[in-house]
Order: sequence, then structure tokens, then C-alpha cells
Amino acid sequence: MAFTIAIDGPAAAGKGTISRRVAAHFGLAHLDTGLLYRAVGRRLLEGTDPEEAARALRADDLDETLLRTDAVAQAASRVAVIPEVRAALLDFQRAFARRDGGAVLDGRDIGTVICPEAEAKLFVTASAEVRAERRWKELTGRGFEVSPEEVLADVRERDARDMDRAEAPLRPAEDAVVIDTSEMDIEAAVAAAIAAVEARR
Ligand code: CDP
Repeated sequence: MAFTIAIDGPAAAGKGTISRRVAAHFGLAHLDTGLLYRAVGRRLLEGTDPEEAARALRADDLDETLLRTDAVAQAASRVAVIPEVRAALLDFQRAFARRDGGAVLDGRDIGTVICPEAEAKLFVTASAEVRAERRWKELTGRGFEVSPEEVLADVRERDARDMDRAEAPLRPAEDAVVIDTSEMDIEAAVAAAIAAVEARR
């Protein structure tokens, strides 16, 4: 039986870690859909037409080491407003969501557009300041030289673009459980997410 868990939310709210841990806990496959948009964003930075890039996406393009930079994240949110790019990535995500054995997908529009029939929907969020601090620690920990102010400005800019776009804007599905991780450590956030899924099973 397909059991789909949709996990949405803004940048650096803890979605990635929560999704990986929830998938491992329930023995489900996991797709970080942000990587699809990041891969297309990276192609845009190289000068490729984003729509073409989205249609031609391959597994090799999803190499995380090349995709987890701030420049690629910004480019991802720019290509993510293009309806043709979103349409080109839709079938793959829907098929993954309904794969045998079930799946966890995390992104911005999983519970609202990609898989509105998901059995469990979570919306993971936190204040912009807390999210920027977490992202700053992550980036500096990986050797990138960025100031906390720059990271906060980037987070705010990306939030605005993701929430205000016409196509699949970032918002919680009506039946999503909202988890605000501003005052939670990662263990508490993972436990809250697992409890919310258990309640839907
Ligand atoms: O890791 P982080 O939350 O910072 O970003 P991400 O999940 O890798 O997503 C990068 C960008 O891709 C987002 O800012 C969105 O603009 C876009 N995206 C989207 O539009 N829809 C999704 N399902 C996933 C990502």
C-alpha cells in the first residue's frame, strides 16, 4: 500500500533532517524535491534555458555537493516561479509519491499540489531569524564565508519569492499539521513529526 508523507515549509526550517529521519523511522523512500529545483537553478547559472534543463534532468544532476550553495538556492527559487519548469518536474514527483511501499517527499507544494491525497501532511516552519542562524552555521561550517546579515537577507528574499508566486505558492495545506521548530532542537522536532504521522496511520 502506498503511504505518502508530505513535508513542506520554508528554507532552513529543519525539513531536510526531519524528512530523512521520518523516512528512516517508517522505512520509506525519501525525495528532497528542492534538489530538482536546485539542479535546474544550477543549469540556469551556467546559461541553460531553465525549461529545457527541467525537461532534460538526469539522476547525475542531483549531486548534492554542487547544489548546496546559496547562489544555487537563489537560482532555484527563481526557476521555481516558472510554470513550465514546475510542470516538467511534476510527473516524476507524483510517481515517486505513489511508489510501492510509500514515500516521504519534502518541498514547498507537496501537500498542496504534488500529492494533495497524501495520508500525512506536515508543515515545518520557524522564525526567519532562527532559520537564518541555522543556515549561517551550516554554510560557515562547510567553509563558505558569509555574514549572518547576508544569510538573513537571502532567507527573507527567498521566502517572499516562494510565498508570493502565482504558481504553487508556499503555504500549509488545510489539513497539514504545523510544526514550529523555532524553540525545538532537532530531536524534539523529529519526535513531533513522528508523533504527527503516527496519529494519521
Ligand atoms: O534547503 P532549502 O529549504 O533552503 O531549499 P530547497 O528545499 O532545496 O529548495 C530550494 C528552492 O526550490 C526553494 O526556495 C523553492 O523556490 C524551490 N522549491 C519549490 O518551489 N518547490 C519544491 N517542491 C521544492 C523547492
